[in-house]
Amino acid sequence: MKRRESVGVIYPTSLGVIPKYPVQEPVKTREVSSEECIVLGEVVNSIPPVDACVPVEDLNKHILVTGATGSGKTFTVATLVNRLTTREYPFNYRPLVLDWHGEYGRLLKNPKVVDPFQLPVPLFGDEDPNASVDFASQVLALTPAQEYVLLKAFENLRGWDHLDLTGVIETLEKMVDESGWFRESRLSLMRKLRRLVVGKYRGLFKETRIGFLDNARSPLVIDLSRVGDLTIRRVYVAALLKKIFDLAVRGEFGVSKLLVVVEEARNLLGKENHVDVLVKMLDEVRKFGVGLVVVSQSPSSLVEDVMVNTSTKIVHSVKSAVDLEVLDKATNMPVELREVIPYLDKGEAVLFSGLYKKPLLVKVV
Ligand SMILES: Nc1ncnc2c1ncn2[C@@H]1O[C@H](COP(=O)(O)OP(=O)(O)OP(=O)(O)O)[C@@H](O)[C@H]1O
Ligand SMILES: [Mg+2]
Repeated sequence: MKRRESVGVIYPTSLGVIPKYPVQEPVKTREVSSEECIVLGEVVNSIPPVDACVPVEDLNKHILVTGATGSGKTFTVATLVNRLTTREYPFNYRPLVLDWHGEYGRLLKNPKVVDPFQLPVPLFGDEDPNASVDFASQVLALTPAQEYVLLKAFENLRGWDHLDLTGVIETLEKMVDESGWFRESRLSLMRKLRRLVVGKYRGLFKETRIGFLDNARSPLVIDLSRVGDLTIRRVYVAALLKKIFDLAVRGEFGVSKLLVVVEEARNLLGKENHVDVLVKMLDEVRKFGVGLVVVSQSPSSLVEDVMVNTSTKIVHSVKSAVDLEVLDKATNMPVELREVIPYLDKGEAVLFSGLYKKPLLVKVV
């Protein structure tokens, strides 16, 4: 079929790419009623104009939102969350935003902004001690010797309901050293753990009842920017996500579902520093009614699982050749789209969704 060329500038905010982009005729792969769709924006150069949308039933198959800094990722996520919650009959999803920079409070409608210090999470759950050691090792960058010492401390604590952080530190303090290296590792491990319980951080990793199980619909925003220490911020988010995973697997959310936004995902799902339990979450949590929105500037810096396990991808302007290559491989992108991605303006994006036969150039409005 001969391609029709678009006529004139359809979106006045666009500086370059969109006016020249061919007419798009979105073809759906299945019928989804507008009641079951969240509008993301407009399909660029479609005649007549049509909305681009993300089906609610796809939310638990996860979303990746990517693009260079300032390309519009946070605005796009806020748009989706607002549309999810502000309808007359809201969808059965509660958004939970892990707000790394403290931006969503002003972008969302009727958010419930929570200070992490009001929502403590335990570092260790009641899982197998080996799993607790693996988790601690990944979030605190433990050496193999420190892992060994921690496992020994857990063995001393056997019989406890859960491994409370201060209890673990007290146990470490009292342990008899087997050798010089044991003592060195024990002391350096204690130093790493103490950092999580001193001064204003005392109480951040305590066991509490997590309070987002109520039935309210307003988006919950965890303002992580209030945790000033970036290492501790990362440990806190990892522990919170692990807790959510645990609760979901145990069916504690009942019929209500969660849409969890993970901003600055490279902190948890980066190739160099991923936390295994969170990678596993991407694969398994959908069955338990939890969808993830993974937000990252650079897809190439993330573990491959993110590419494989996000069925919807919203790609804003990506300038790096390495990132483009990763997207290209993961999505089988038509050449005309690959060529425009580096030149998209703020708020313009390519939407990859199982709802449409082909990826679409869209404007988030
Ligand atoms: N679709 C849009 N329509 C209008 N303004 C937009 C749109 N998308 C983004 N903007 C504006 O562009 C600016 C940057 O957007 P945003 O903060 O969402 O970028 P980002 O990709 O999240 O950046 P960073 O990587 O730094 O977090 C903001 O001022 C935002 O209001
Ligand atoms: Mg942002």
